[in-house]
Amino acid sequence: MCGIVGYVGKRDCSEVLLDALSKLEYRGYDSAGIAIHTDGEIKTCKAKGRLANLEEKLRLSGGIKGHCGIGHTRWATHGEPSDINSHPHGNATVTIVHNGIIENYKAIKTRLEGKGYVFQSQTDTETVAKLLDYYYKGDPIEAIRRTESKIEGSYALGIIFKDFPNTIFALRKDSPLIAAVGEDECFIASDVPAILNYTKNYYLLEAGELAILKDGKVSFKNLDGEDITKEMLVADWDMESAMKGNYEHFMLKEIHEQPNSITTTITPRIVDGMPNLEECGMTEELLRNYKNIFVVACGTAMHAGLVGKYVIEKIGRIPVTVDVASEFRYRNPILTKGDLVILVSQSGETADTLEALRLSKRNGASTLAIVNVKGSSIAREADFVLYTHAGPEIAVASTKAYMVQLAVMYLFAFELAHAKGTLSTEECKRLTGELCNIPNLVESILKQKDNCQYVASQLVNSENLLYIGRGLDYALSMEGSLKLKEISYIHSESYAAGELKHGTISLVTELMPVIAVATQRELFDKTVSNVKEVKARGAKTFVVTHSYINVDSDVADYKIGIPTTDDLLMPMLAVVPLQLIAYYTSVLRGNDVDKPRNLAKSVTVE
Ligand code: G6P
Repeated sequence: MCGIVGYVGKRDCSEVLLDALSKLEYRGYDSAGIAIHTDGEIKTCKAKGRLANLEEKLRLSGGIKGHCGIGHTRWATHGEPSDINSHPHGNATVTIVHNGIIENYKAIKTRLEGKGYVFQSQTDTETVAKLLDYYYKGDPIEAIRRTESKIEGSYALGIIFKDFPNTIFALRKDSPLIAAVGEDECFIASDVPAILNYTKNYYLLEAGELAILKDGKVSFKNLDGEDITKEMLVADWDMESAMKGNYEHFMLKEIHEQPNSITTTITPRIVDGMPNLEECGMTEELLRNYKNIFVVACGTAMHAGLVGKYVIEKIGRIPVTVDVASEFRYRNPILTKGDLVILVSQSGETADTLEALRLSKRNGASTLAIVNVKGSSIAREADFVLYTHAGPEIAVASTKAYMVQLAVMYLFAFELAHAKGTLSTEECKRLTGELCNIPNLVESILKQKDNCQYVASQLVNSENLLYIGRGLDYALSMEGSLKLKEISYIHSESYAAGELKHGTISLVTELMPVIAVATQRELFDKTVSNVKEVKARGAKTFVVTHSYINVDSDVADYKIGIPTTDDLLMPMLAVVPLQLIAYYTSVLRGNDVDKPRNLAKSVTVE
């Protein structure tokens, strides 16, 4: 949510900032701006809309030449997207970019207005810029420390002072921030993909840490002004993985990366054909003793948790509660010492998920993070971490991250059930073997995209849509429905197939297509009955099921056949056509697939 960057070095700063921002646009894209030291002053250029608008504005105005500056791509929280509300904010003395929310900005604003400050924007960020100006008496660190002591909320800040033309100051609390070092050059960024073109060496700022970037070096201080040393990290993502390559969109590329992501995620965790999660400290003994499991997450990651619930309960016989993190936080959940809370997050920075983790720890529960981004806040704070190795996911609509969240959920469920004795060694090996074969099966589904393109062509003019399924198919159809909503803007709902006739079937007409997921063979006939019910009311029906199963034409107008594995693992296969249907529908509707309206990939505010 909002991307911030900064550069100081020998290169053309404007070029570097724009390039780095282009790698962070997934974090927000309603406006962008840069501020650069040039000829003894700070010059700023900002534009509403995509980064391309800023580039055009810079081109028309002759650009800003310089070697030290900061940049921002915004997802509006306070104030509509506009040139004025875009970052950077500041004046001739100090200019900043900010990611996060300043909760007490109104009080600060009133106070500063009383001292004669005049505000131009509706943003919370401008109050920080003005507060820095107020406290600045020649010592930037002192001004930052005093400002920090007055602001509440979450923030990552990049700051430049007119009097320090070759220095960037950066401060973090909650919102993610890295400082990176190349050859005679330094960077700040909200996320690793922004710097991969230049260096892989970076430092992760933690709450209350201040970075000072100057002369090709980064130094760090705490808020007492004391020097601190930090460990340098090396990014294991390469530039290629953060580029579109020959694909038209990141989303399509990421859908195709799924087989490889699954293999990379599961292979190191399978020993002698059995799941082995000891790398994270999760021993069989620990697994045996958990009384209740909670899965807490947001969006797509929460949907991965729903699949996990069905699987863990079915084979591990432990009650699993799945919660949306923003609800879990405030419902005073009943957590005790013997409970395990699993936090699932691609970014590892989602504000509500992070707070849910902290709440769980305060209540004495054990916490396990299933996270994609190395060193992210959730990964650092959880008791146990299992990384999903999806590589960078750039498209806002999550696909490969979901897939590997499922993969880790399965490994976890298999190992837990085996530890508890509810799954025999033989059965555990068989299921693990089936999991290892999923990448091949996903590959084969990806070779038959025509059927998904056809379904998309049938949906493109719809206003409303229903996804139905039972059991694991229901859990999966929630993700299918979300994917379609996010990028096609078609209203869709997912419903437990058996529940439809308790109200929602009243919406079904010939204008309401229905996608039924029917991969759970013991429930197949029951789902088919529900499909017939909607077809009898005029709905056009599309059924996703095993290729070998014949579906009569009085049930399905169109069948999407997928290969067969154990029913427990079918969500990992059935999700692929659902992702592709959403993708092609979005393309046909002419939408910006990778950057759907109003959304941002990393949601670091509540
Ligand atoms: C946003 C993204 C979703 C994502 C959710 C949770 O809403 O647009 O794609 O599923 O946040 O993000 P996380 O990084 O915690 O998985």
